[in-house]
Amino acid sequence: PAVLPPGPPPPLTFSGAKLVNDKAHPYKAPRPGDIRGPCPGLNTLANHGYLPSSGVATPAQIITATQEGFNFAPGAARFATYSAHLVDGNLVTDLLSIGGKTAKTGPDTGAPAIIGGLNTHSVFEGDASMTRADFHWGDNHSFNQTQFDLFVEYSNKYGGGLYNLTVAAELRHRRIQDGIATNPEFDLTAIRFFTAFGESSFPYSMFVDGRITERATAGLDMTNATLIFRDGKYPKDFWRAPEPTSGFGIIDIFNAHPIKPGRNENGVNTYTVDPDAADFSTPCKRYTDFLSKTVVKLYPNPTGVLRRNLILNLGFLYDAQGVIPDCPQVFPYGQL
Ligand code: HEM
Ligand code: MG
Repeated sequence: PAVLPPGPPPPLTFSGAKLVNDKAHPYKAPRPGDIRGPCPGLNTLANHGYLPSSGVATPAQIITATQEGFNFAPGAARFATYSAHLVDGNLVTDLLSIGGKTAKTGPDTGAPAIIGGLNTHSVFEGDASMTRADFHWGDNHSFNQTQFDLFVEYSNKYGGGLYNLTVAAELRHRRIQDGIATNPEFDLTAIRFFTAFGESSFPYSMFVDGRITERATAGLDMTNATLIFRDGKYPKDFWRAPEPTSGFGIIDIFNAHPIKPGRNENGVNTYTVDPDAADFSTPCKRYTDFLSKTVVKLYPNPTGVLRRNLILNLGFLYDAQGVIPDCPQVFPYGQL
């Protein structure tokens, strides 16, 4: 059925640390047919009942769950959720799969839209993930033990056994260099250029127990990293972050090994900077490119409820990113 998207739920009323692996949210292993995907945060929330165990949810449910279960900051939760929903979700039914494509999000609205869930490569999910392989190798969403071994190796080498900001910066660099050297289709452009650095900060920002102070230096231990990344399971007695966070230290991770957005143009080791791709110095271009190069390509000519809901979700996305100087809202589908 066609749904009028309700818009983002409000921020938390209590936004401090608290026990989130509580009696009301026990771990329940996914049952056959339940969908999980490339995001360890959302997988964990689905396994603990903060999201539907089916792995199919509305944007509002995802925002509420990430705020409640990890203290993800409202702006970041809205930004990630509406970005993903616009390219991976069903805009008519207001449902998004946190993994693969499924009929549970409702009937397709017509090509070239994909409505493929978070597993869909290159519109939101992208290369150089820490614990998931590049799409080129076939499976871009399942936990990859070989890559996790590298995560552990780097945490030992640079963090004394803990994943901290230093480890994040070195592993981010390594995963990009590996991609350039081995993946002929390696691509670090568009929204992936930004999410790659953001996600590297999430483990120490949100997977470390909220009662621990100095969390960037404290870091995430490998037992708890295994639980969350591999099993989608909160550590026993886990408390969420002590304040709303969108991941801290992202620019430090970037500055440790700066790189311009680009891709392997002609096989391995042909990384070529894309002179027309947004980077950290052009946040408004990130926004306008996401609309013109990604969303409008999927939805060139929407009508009816689809057009209405695109306009609404694009409005939620614009509001989510906060004020970017000299960055007026653009309306590829007009206004309501
Ligand atoms: C990765 C979606 C919130 C932690 C991803 C990926 C997607 C995604 C599509 C795969 C990107 C890639 O690596 O190629 C979302 C959406 C969210 C959300 C739509 C909505 C709010 C969160 C939260 C956390 C989190 C709250 C942490 C508490 C991570 C981490 C990765 C990741 C650590 C990287 C995994 C890796 O590199 O192996 N997310 N996510 N996400 N997400 Fe989320
Ligand atoms: Mg990936």
